[in-house]
Amino acid sequence: MKILVTGGLGFIGSHTSVELQQKGYEVVIIDNCSNASEEVLDGITAITGKKPLFEKIDLRNKEDVSDFFQRHSDLDGVIHFAASKAVGESVDKPLLYYENNLGTLVYLLQHLSKQKKAHFIFSSSCTVYCQADTMPITEDAPVKPAESPYGNTKQIGEEIIQDTCKVTPHLHAISLRYFNPMGAHPSIEIGELPTGVPQNLVPFITQTGIGMREKLSVFGDDYPTEDGTCIREYIHVVDLAKAHVVALKRLIEGKNEKNYEVFNVGTGTGSSVLEVIHSFEKVSGKKLNYQIVGRRQGDVIKAFADTAKANSTLGWKAQSTLDEAMLSAWQWEQKIRKD
Ligand code: WQD
Repeated sequence: MKILVTGGLGFIGSHTSVELQQKGYEVVIIDNCSNASEEVLDGITAITGKKPLFEKIDLRNKEDVSDFFQRHSDLDGVIHFAASKAVGESVDKPLLYYENNLGTLVYLLQHLSKQKKAHFIFSSSCTVYCQADTMPITEDAPVKPAESPYGNTKQIGEEIIQDTCKVTPHLHAISLRYFNPMGAHPSIEIGELPTGVPQNLVPFITQTGIGMREKLSVFGDDYPTEDGTCIREYIHVVDLAKAHVVALKRLIEGKNEKNYEVFNVGTGTGSSVLEVIHSFEKVSGKKLNYQIVGRRQGDVIKAFADTAKANSTLGWKAQSTLDEAMLSAWQWEQKIRKD
């Protein structure tokens, strides 16, 4: 079975490529290397003993995409990660996000629609829920007006896929809405490689812990939560990667009930910012230098998933705890700063 992984050099894409290869799938990675380096291929190879096929292609180039599908007309599935994902950047550069996240999706679906049978896994996000009214969030929670162009591209992306599936019976797709991925592969051969100053909490914590950052700014402790800081659901990236393989297998084996399905992929447990900091201090044995500052614009107070559907229907359940995920993130940070 040959699977295309777009954005396969990225954080979640690389971990998913490892899980696919370890399950015996042949992996073809497309990445434009705008936010990842080809060296990640070495990490994937070191773990699995097999180097994935790799083509440096920008999915915004329609001709290159067509040429790729002509040369790889035997794909058994596509897992689509390639997209821009920085919320703040999307506010400043909306057209980059609409072109890169939606234009490319249309090109992929145009090719998949021509195939006799197509299996498509879409990297969606809890961002589609914005601030959900009830916790934990179920898949049928109302999708609210997006609060950023990035979030809008995930909402519209899901609609594009759903509308296409409605008129393309042989296209079977699953959107996976994930929460906050973190951590690194236990081999510490691959992990998160944020470019520049990390926007996300966990890499900022580990970079502060290793001394790269002077201190972590905690964006507000006056929220209506137990300790006043925002609550999110932090999921080990390996658990998340495995969910993609399970979802793909569901489609390939024809076990999906409809030709478009949506699943939350999470741990079902929320953790506050301070709890995440305390997890780092526990696993690292280091005190983290942090300061409470003002709220970050656009932050939702709470976001964590009801994972019953993924657990029962998909047959997937997250295995790692926050501490286990944080330990892997810390071990990875120590490794990459040593090399
Ligand atoms: C988590 C919490 C911050 C940094 C993002 C994307 C979302 C999805 C998941 C892709 C918040 C606080 C953070 C810092 C802090 N990605 N924080 N100091 O915003 O929940 O979601 O990743 O789909 O689309 O927006 O993740 O890690 O940025 O923030 O206090 O330096 O940590 O306020 O409460 P977020 P995050």
